[in-house]
Amino acid sequence: MRRFRRLRQTEEMRSFVRETRIAVEDLVYPVFVQEGTGIKEPVPSMPGVFRYSIDRLDGILDQILGLGIPAVLLFGIPAHKDEKGSGAYDPEGITQRAIRHIKERAPFLIVIADICLCEYTSHGHCGLVKDGQILNDETLPLLARAALTNADARADIIAPSDMMDGRVAAIRRELDENGHRNVPVLSYSAKYASGYYGPFRDAAESAPQFGDRRSYQMDPANAREAIREMEDDLEEGADMLIVKPALAYLDILKIAREKFLVPIIAYNVSGEYSMVKAAALQGWIDEKRIVLENMIAMKRAGADRIITYHALDVAGWILGK
Ligand code: PBG
Ligand code: ZN
Repeated sequence: MRRFRRLRQTEEMRSFVRETRIAVEDLVYPVFVQEGTGIKEPVPSMPGVFRYSIDRLDGILDQILGLGIPAVLLFGIPAHKDEKGSGAYDPEGITQRAIRHIKERAPFLIVIADICLCEYTSHGHCGLVKDGQILNDETLPLLARAALTNADARADIIAPSDMMDGRVAAIRRELDENGHRNVPVLSYSAKYASGYYGPFRDAAESAPQFGDRRSYQMDPANAREAIREMEDDLEEGADMLIVKPALAYLDILKIAREKFLVPIIAYNVSGEYSMVKAAALQGWIDEKRIVLENMIAMKRAGADRIITYHALDVAGWILGK
């Protein structure tokens, strides 16, 4: 008989033989910035998450810095939307101004700019629309411009989340030709057409006004296709990859880890967050225990870093705050 239980007798021994750990340095916190002033508005379907106007950002920035969380992922909610998503690439757009503010206030905080059109288009799709179709090639220059204006605002990392084919190459070229050769691209490579994005679309007001995103995001049933997406994005110049959602796609995360040598980031999305929060608020689960277990699961599957709305809580628990 093998006595596995020998190494499980005390917390000291369990800690000594523990294979996977979660650290504050692993975390990325998503932040929603909204046009306007004096705004700190709760997102109803995401308890604990708020949308901030730029003048109210400092409070949350201080919290992030105080906990030592190294990076934020920025989403913008513009005042006006139009067919072409102009707000996404306006040099004076909401994320562009928010990034300038953050980099002035917290120069060492890594700012990742999510690049997409859906928060800025009146139809809510991630690309240009014609005759009910989401156009691919015509969308690429707009995404490239969105990347450039955010890089000009001193975003540290550009993260395209639209799932148009060829966008990484288009963005890489635009950045290189305009003095941003050293700005890395973190591609949402394996991004599935998922029901788990529901609460985010409330938060970002980015729900499609007709149809769905299945003609550009991936079919949840496909794993091999994710490898091709990731291979392709690396060939086009991506420096790091995202798997999204995370918890229902740990197999994809593991494949990504085994197959590619670049940093792999798991996106623990809004629906995954809200389900845990809802059950915790009902008193049906132990929130801290479940959240930390989920974090370990993503790291064990191969995530180098985790984008999560739980980041503030997780950092607090790790630090004993
Ligand atoms: C926009 C975008 C989405 C998310 C990140 N960027 C939503 C979508 O594709 O509809 C989802 C994030 C989350 O659910 O937490 N392209
Ligand atoms: Zn989008």
